[in-house]
Parts: sequence; C-alpha cells; structure tokens
Amino acid sequence: MATFDTIIRGGTVVTATDRMDCDVAVRDGRIAALGHDLGDAAREIDAGGMLVLPGGVEGHCHIEQKSSTGIVNADDFYSATVSAVFGGTTTVIPFAAQHRGDSLRHTVEAYHALARPKAVIDYGYHLIISDPTDQVMGQELPALVKDGVTSFKVYMTYDQLKLDDYQMLDVLAAARRHGALVMVHAENHDMIRWLSDRLVDKGYTQPKYHAVSHARIGEAEATHRAIQLSALIDVPILIVHVSAEEAMDEIRRAQGAGLSIYGETCPQYLFLTAADLDREGMEGAKFCCSPPPRDAAAQEAIWRGLANGTFAVFSSDHAPYRFDETGKLSAGPAPPFTRIANGVPGIELRLPLLFSEGVGKNRIDIHQFVALTATNVARLYGLHPQKGTIAVGADADIAIWDPEKEVTVTHDMLHDAVGYTPYEGRRIKGWPVVVFSRGRIAVEDGDLKVERGSGAFLTRALSDAARPLGRRQPEMDPERNFGAEIIDGG
Ligand code: URP
Ligand code: ZN
Ligand code: ZN
Repeated sequence: MATFDTIIRGGTVVTATDRMDCDVAVRDGRIAALGHDLGDAAREIDAGGMLVLPGGVEGHCHIEQKSSTGIVNADDFYSATVSAVFGGTTTVIPFAAQHRGDSLRHTVEAYHALARPKAVIDYGYHLIISDPTDQVMGQELPALVKDGVTSFKVYMTYDQLKLDDYQMLDVLAAARRHGALVMVHAENHDMIRWLSDRLVDKGYTQPKYHAVSHARIGEAEATHRAIQLSALIDVPILIVHVSAEEAMDEIRRAQGAGLSIYGETCPQYLFLTAADLDREGMEGAKFCCSPPPRDAAAQEAIWRGLANGTFAVFSSDHAPYRFDETGKLSAGPAPPFTRIANGVPGIELRLPLLFSEGVGKNRIDIHQFVALTATNVARLYGLHPQKGTIAVGADADIAIWDPEKEVTVTHDMLHDAVGYTPYEGRRIKGWPVVVFSRGRIAVEDGDLKVERGSGAFLTRALSDAARPLGRRQPEMDPERNFGAEIIDGG
C-alpha cells in the first residue's frame, strides 16, 4: 500500500510567511509531510510551474440568508460553496442571522438544516445578533460560543438589524466575557435615513443615489464610534467591508494607539466605483451594496490599506441577489434605491481578482495575498492552524494556482446562481486550477469532484484576537478593577 494518499510534486509552496520549492504529501485528509523524496502515493499531482497555496478562507458571505425584508439570497449552500471552491476557497463562514424575536439556538439549527445536505466544502457560521435580550446574551450566546460559533456580527444601521450604542456595549461585553470576536457593520443609520428621506422626497430615486445617501462621513463616524465602544469595553472588533479612506484612517489611528481593531475590505471597493451605480436604466441596482463603492481615490486608498496592514482580511461580502423579482427588483421593476436589495456577488472571484491585480501588479506580495485571504481569516475566526496554511497536521485544503493562466470573466463561467457578475469582461491573470478540500480533489480540469453535502461543520476555537480577561484594564479607572466588577459582572 502506498505511504500517502496524494503527493503534489514540483510546485512552489507559499504560506503567509514562507516560500518553499517542495512536495506536499497528504494522508487521511491532512498534510502529512513537506519535503523531497517523500515516497510513494496512490495519486500524484504534477504542480511544476505552479503555486501551491492554502485554500482561501471566506470570512464574510451571505448564503441562503433571509434578509430582514424577507428576500432570500440567490445562492443556496450548494451553489455558493461550489462557486467558492472553483475560485480557490475551501472554507466559508456565512451568517446565521437572528431576526428580532427569534432564539439564537433555533436560528443556528435552521442554518444547519440548510447547510448540512448541500455544502461541498467546510463551513462555520457567524451569528448576526439583532435582538440582544437578557436570555440571548446570558444563556444562548455563551452556549453557542462553546459549540464553536465564536464570532458575531452587529449592525449600526438597517431598521430591522440596528443595535443602539447601549446594545452594542452589551454585545461587546459578552464578547469580552466569552472570548468571541465581534464584526461591526459601521454606518451612521440616521445620516443614511435623513439623506435618503430627502433624496426620495425630491424624486432622486435612481440607484446612483444609494451611494449619495451612504455618505463616507457616515461610515467614518460609525467606525470611530464603534472603536470607542470597543475601547471602553477593552475588546477586539473587526470593522467589516470598509469602503472609504476616512473610515480606514479611523482604524489605522486606533491601531497606532495600540487598540485591537481589525479591518476588512472587499473586491467591490477595489474594482467598482459609485459610477457603476449610474449605469443605464436599473442596471445600477446590480452594484448597490452597503457601504457603496466610492471613487478612484478611495480605491487607491484601500489598496494602500491592504499593502500597509491596516486591513487584516479580504472578504467577498458575497450577498447574491438575482436581477429580477426574487432579488434586486423584488419591490418592482424600478424601485427607489431605498428598496433595492443590498449586496453584490463575489465569492468565486475574490481570490483571482486580488491575485491578478494585487500580486500581479506588485501592489501586495504573494505572502500578503495568502495572509489576507486565508491565514489571517483563519486566525481571526479560530480556525488556525487547521485551516489557512500549509503545514504538517493542517487540513489538506490546498489550491494549485497557474500564475500565467489568463481568463476573461463572464458570468457563464462562474458557478453561482446570481445571473450576472459585476466584473463581467475583466481580464484576470492567475487562476486556481486544482483545488483540494480535506485531501479530496474538489476541482480539477474545470470539473467539480466532490459531492453535495460532503462539507463539514467546523466547531471553531476562540479567535486568536480575543484577549484573555483581565490582561489590561479598561481605562475607566486604572486603580480599581472595574473590568471585573462593572464590565464582566464579576
Ligand atoms: O450590501 C451589503 N453589504 N449587503 C450584505 C449585508 C451586509 O451588510 O453585509
Ligand atoms: Zn454589513
Ligand atoms: Zn455582508
């Protein structure tokens, strides 16, 4: 019998820190050895001239998520995970979204029922907390953290999701107590509402006004406020989907002051602008997401933030809605921008876009690419070193990239159920040609090789960012242990 199940021979292995010309041996779904002359294997893969990278970890995507207004995503757990794996991603962490009045426990059970029979790669969930009652915060949430759902998202905007600052503090204090990571959607709700009301009143209802109503200053203000709330509680947070330089500057300043503030950005803030929302007719609706894409200067700023480490992670925020009555146009053929489902697809192109424009154009190096798309994501969400790296003992989640392969994007070549891509026609150089998920070949020669329902739920550890209680006291009064008495309820 062969020593290994698979050996990937002759490639260049790249991790967040290292680059090695070596073979990779896989046994029982895990990486068993790295080196040369490793012995024999049941299957050999020739990776000569290829890059052998950790499979991507997608930390922000919406799959089969019922929105607060009742619209459902275009992708289910099958199409979304198939699309992800064709793009070199081998783990996804979508949301289990609590609606007001719902129990968190039931919410997670409902998502398990959706994911288990369909996911083709491994997955976890973040909780969306929209109703932080005493029961939810005191009992359900700690139990779910113990069960491996160790991160949650909170919203500072959207009528049906928004928490006020008091509620945010409750959630942040709970995260501190239980070592969970809080993701924050930071936009000033009343600025959006106030601007939207006036724009619609005056008849400015076309998609392009979505970008006007979601002002950069509102994103910066909420980012600043979220940072101050997290500083009061002394707990790390991740500001998600940062689009504006002003918000990015708030994050960078906080990091410079030693606060544990992490930043995430997405392809739409590098490759789209507000001008895309002003396309012919209702076409602009396809590009409505929150925060919206900004301008060329903001794109350059976001690239700087990726290069200089302000952003820890690069996610798609895949929020797929069809351009029809089930999705973008659910409120009619020409709804006002306030009634267009928010979100753009991007789960399949997240890695190729960043590889091509980032690594290929020397804006970031290959190690930064791996860190932003896999390793840091796994670390932040309690999956490292099982996921997000190539190391002995890690899951054999591996993407073999042809750095020279050139592709012109069309929606037809993608595997999601959205019906369009915001990146239609874009030229990409560098593509994942073979993808392994837990040692199984998942994609090869353009074909899917894994079964519906073969992905596994991941019980996640606590975030590497979560600090054990009591290491540093919150700043209220350094003489007294207010951390334990007031914040932690000790
Ligand atoms: O527009 C967006 N980003 N829609 C998805 C929901 C969210 O806020 O992440
Ligand atoms: Zn959001
Ligand atoms: Zn999102």
